[in-house]
Order: sequence, then structure tokens, then C-alpha cells
Amino acid sequence: MTDIRQQISQLTERLHYLNHRYYQDSVSEVSDAEFDAMLRQLQQLESQHPELAQPDSPTQRVGGSITKEFRQIKHSYPMLSLGNTYSREELAEFDERVRKGLNGEAFEYVCELKIDGVAISLVYEKGILVQAITRGDGVQGDEVTTNTKTIRSIPLRLQPGNYPEKFEVRGEIFMPFKVFDALNVEREDIGEATMANPRNAASGTMKMQDSSIVAHRRLDCFLYYLLGENRMSDSHSASLQAMESWGLPVSDSWRLCQTLDEVFAFIDHWDKQRFHLPMGIDGIVIKVNSLLHQEELGFTAKIPRWAISYKYQSESATTVLESISYQVGRTGAVTPVANLRPVQLAGTKVKRASLHNADEIARLDIRIGDWVFVEKGGEIIPKITGVDTAKRGLFSQETKFLHDCPVCGTALVRTEGEAAWYCPNEQACPPQVKGRMEHFIQRKALNIDGLGAETIDLLVEKGLVANAGDLYSIQYEQLIALDRFADKSVRNLLAGIEKSKSVPFPKVLFGIGIRFVGATVAEKLAEHFGSLDNIAKASFEELIQAPEIGEKIARSVLAYFADQKNQAFLEKLEKAGLQLAMTGGPAAESEALAGLSFVISGVFSQFSREELQDKIKANGGKLVSSVSAKVNYLLAGENMGPAKLEKASKLGVKILTEQEFLDMLVPTI
Ligand code: IVH
Repeated sequence: MTDIRQQISQLTERLHYLNHRYYQDSVSEVSDAEFDAMLRQLQQLESQHPELAQPDSPTQRVGGSITKEFRQIKHSYPMLSLGNTYSREELAEFDERVRKGLNGEAFEYVCELKIDGVAISLVYEKGILVQAITRGDGVQGDEVTTNTKTIRSIPLRLQPGNYPEKFEVRGEIFMPFKVFDALNVEREDIGEATMANPRNAASGTMKMQDSSIVAHRRLDCFLYYLLGENRMSDSHSASLQAMESWGLPVSDSWRLCQTLDEVFAFIDHWDKQRFHLPMGIDGIVIKVNSLLHQEELGFTAKIPRWAISYKYQSESATTVLESISYQVGRTGAVTPVANLRPVQLAGTKVKRASLHNADEIARLDIRIGDWVFVEKGGEIIPKITGVDTAKRGLFSQETKFLHDCPVCGTALVRTEGEAAWYCPNEQACPPQVKGRMEHFIQRKALNIDGLGAETIDLLVEKGLVANAGDLYSIQYEQLIALDRFADKSVRNLLAGIEKSKSVPFPKVLFGIGIRFVGATVAEKLAEHFGSLDNIAKASFEELIQAPEIGEKIARSVLAYFADQKNQAFLEKLEKAGLQLAMTGGPAAESEALAGLSFVISGVFSQFSREELQDKIKANGGKLVSSVSAKVNYLLAGENMGPAKLEKASKLGVKILTEQEFLDMLVPTI
């Protein structure tokens, strides 16, 4: 038992240390895989001995626990907002007020980025994160500690330092653009309504009940305000420095400014540079630096007199909403799209913008003929941020979301709690039929060359295929008879279809298009269950046992396999000889290679390359296709290219012979 206690404590310490190195010093001392392997080991030990888990265990980063209802907690100090300014004149007026308030005493400002996210208040006790509360109405907010602990840049435990026994620190949680864009692609993939902007996405994520989903969303955080019973330093800049030294995430973009001109220079600098930031900002915050001065100036009922924000003009344009069209996706989800009078915005001509779903239309109260504000943030698709109701015509009519499918006319349905309306006519609604096939053939799925959206349209219209399963029985004669096809294109297509029969099972599982089963979930399911048959047989309980499979996905999987039409479709795939089970040799043998990554190259004498690949996987190792500094080993056979060898030795990647590799699999006693 003491052994295990020690093991848990050593792993905890090591992971804390590595986290700190990664997030504060931007140094990876180990590969991601090694880190994950250690984290998994700790998780396993903690689940066997929950009493030994430390309260700030790094395993809380991966989430897992469910918050049924968020507790409301009163803030120890109200969470105020800031006054806004939009021009230099208004800022000069603020400066004048400060100057007067301080009776002409000399003072300085700190300028910071105003991050466009959701405000959070964190409480640390004895250096351990004990509570996180959202802003709520400023007086009380939701307790979101479990979700907050999954945000990797927020330390669960501080670096040693002279911080007080208990203190509070505030800042902004945000979703980086990259994460936001990827999330929307993933949501489109599984037929869910896309998110309007990174701020909404961050705020929605923080309110999720399942913390493991929060962990996947890769939120980030910057902190900018230190509060406690006693003043911990003399100035705001010293507080920021102290916070940073304790390991808290502080953006290093802040600057001390002695004059208003320096403030303007900071504003101008970021007005240009903000488009290169990884996250959204909506302005700059200007704060009086001395905490004594801050106290002297004090607060009005709602805002501090010692700070103010300067809001950037967003790159926006106004134009007219000419019409709303509705697109039906492969899952039947109906997405409204705004058709705009073309307008120039940030260097491109904008004609369309997503309206996301019925709730967004209602929220904006957007109507045909309205003048609307269009903005382009860091995200890819322009968004409509509001309606100029002053310019609205007298006879404008509230937008009514469709009742019936715009393509097949079937009455739309909406499930309680979901944003999207769906057309339930799965089997016969053309965009759904075609959409499912497009999903099936895409590169991330069956990757069928020689087949595109137009060809699918043609094949469906000519009645040659009703679903992707029919592709496998299509004949040369049927294709050559079509206008579009010549001998070569028919052969290409048939070869592409044939090749797809060797696409590995996880991609096939993604391709069949079960709702909520995106590429990552498909991989998890495939790995856990090993075959389509096993997934089809799995009960609800068995499904939610699989890593990262929640109730929503489990229900969707059950519903999919319960449907006779889907069974008939899957039978066609089976008859065609698609990969409906994991290949790759025997199931897990050991964890001897856990956390290690390998590149294989050349020809081997005792085993084939495929067998060696299987061995790496079966013993917990990871296969990588090309040599980089992150790779641990190059498993080198005969006849391998000298360039690869040279690269490996240059990057310090260890080179293994077949025998050396096999020796690694023998347990050392
Ligand atoms: S200071 C009492 N600094 O903007 C002063 N706020 O519009 C507290 N925000 O509620 C706020 N970046 O959520 C401060 N560097 C920054 C900020 C910032 C973003 C948010 C914060 C605040 C809102 C006010």
C-alpha cells in the first residue's frame, strides 16, 4: 500500500512538473504520448485506490465526473464590469477624471488585451485550486470547479511562492480560434448545428454537465485580476508578475504606460496585430497601476473609476438580408443561411452568412429586408451580429422557421433540448441520401477516388444507387451508358470503389454516418469493441463503458442498429467485403512500449513489416509515418533510405535493429 501511495505521489508530482514546464515555460520534456501514458497509469491507480488520490491530482484534467446542477455561489467581492470608450476623446476624458481624482499626483497605467471570453473567478487555498465560479449576475454565479479543472493552462497547484493562505484571482476563459473552427467542422460532420462564435462556444462549454467533453474542447484562460483580504503588492503590474511567478496564466502582452500617448500607441499596435492573435479580443483595458490610487479612485455602483475599456471597431459592414435559404444536411438537420446583398468586408466579398439555427434567428429577430451588421472575426465564416431595427420597414414580418422540409416537404421535427430542426424522411429526402453518400466517400472515410458530389447526384437521379452500399454492385455497363462517363473515368471509379474495400474499420465506421459518431468517436468505438458486430450487439451499459462514449452517443448507436434499413445497408457492405473489424493482429499484449513512438522503415528478416507494426500497437506503442524530433525510435530494416537514417541521427532519434526492438518486448525482471 505504501508503495502505491508513493507511486501515486511520484506520478502526481511528475505530471504537475511537466504541466508547469509545458504551459508556463513552453517546454515539452516528454512526448505527448509519454505524458498521456503516465496520466493513464495514475488514473488507473487512483481508480483502484480512490482514497489515495490527491485533491489536486492532474487526472482531473481529463474530466469524467458529471455535474447534474451547478450550485449558485455568492462572490466574495462582486464581479463588476468596465466602462466602455470608443474614441480617443472619450479616453482623454477618462484620463482627465483620473487626474482630477488623484489631485494631480503622478500615476501610470497598465494596458492589457480585453479578451473576448467568459469571466471566471478562481479561489486558491494553500496554493490549491478549490473553487471556480462564473460571473453570473455579478453578485452570484455558477460553481464550475470540475469543468475549470480540465483547462490545462489553469494550475491545479501553484508553484511555491509568497501567496496568501487564501486568495481569489479573476480572468477570462476563451476558446482559441483553431479549436473553435475544428469544433464546427466536427459538428457539421455529425450533423449538429454549428456554434455562432468562440465566446458562445466557450460559455456553452463551461455549462456542460460532462466534464470529459469540456476537457476535449481545449479551452484556455488568461488571468488579470488578483484579490484578497490584504493587498499583496503595491501595484497591478506587480500583481501580474506575482501571479505569473506562481504559475498562473498571465498574457505577456500587458505594458506599463506613463502617458496617454503611450496608451494610444498600445491601442494602435494591437488594432493591427489583433488579427494575428490565436483568440479573439474586443478591445484594450486601461488600468491605473498603483493599488493605492485604485483605492482612492474607488468604484461607482457598477464599474471601477480606475479602469476602462477601449473597444475596437470590429471589421464590420452593413448590408441587406435579401432572403434566407435552408440547407438540408445528411442527418436531416436544416440549417438556415442568410443571403446578403454582396458587401466588401476585410478584403473579401461577403454574400452569405450562416444563421446556425432557429434559436439564432429568434435571438437576432432577423427579418427579410432588414439592414444587418456583418462582422468577420478570426473565424472563417462571417457572422451577423445584429439588426439595425431603426432602418426596418413598417411592414416587415417576423421570420418563421420552416415547418416542412424545403426539399421533400416532410414536416420537420425538433427534439427537446436540441437546437436544430430535422427532416425525418431519412430514406427518401434527396439531400440526405446524397449527403450520406458524400460523407461515406470523403477522404476521412472511405476515400473513394473518381467520385464527387456531381457524380453522386447523377447516380442517385438515374436510380443506380440509393445508398452507398449500392456502389459495390454497380457494373461497368451501367456506368458507361451514362453521358458523363468515358471508358477511363468508369475504370477509375470502379478502381476507387475496389480500393475502398481495404480502408480500415474505424474509417468505415465513421463513413456509415451514425449520428454523433465523428471520426474520433468512431476510432474509440472501433478500438474498444473490435468489430461492427460487437458494436451492434452492445447494450447501452456496455456502450457507455467505452472510453469517451456518453449517453447521447450510446443512444444514437443503439437507434442506428435497431433500424432494419440500416441493417440492410450494412449487409451490403459486409457482402462487398469491406473492413468491418479491426485487423492488426492480436489484442493488446503488454504496455511495454506505452508512450513510445516508432517509425518503421526497410525490410526485416524475422517478421514482416506489418507484423512488426502490429507488435508495436499490441504493446502500447504508437506508429508514426515520418521521422521528427518527437519520435522516440526508428526501427530500421535492410535497404532503408540513407536520408531517413541521416535525419534520424541528426534529430537524436534512436535507431533500432529488429533484434533490439524484439528485446524491448521481453519484460525486464
Ligand atoms: S478587468 C474591476 N481586464 O471584460 C475590473 N477585464 O467589460 C474587472 N475582460 O467583466 C475587469 N479582458 O470579463 C479586465 N484584461 C482584462 C479583461 C477583462 C477581458 C472582461 C471581463 C470583464 C469585462 C468587462
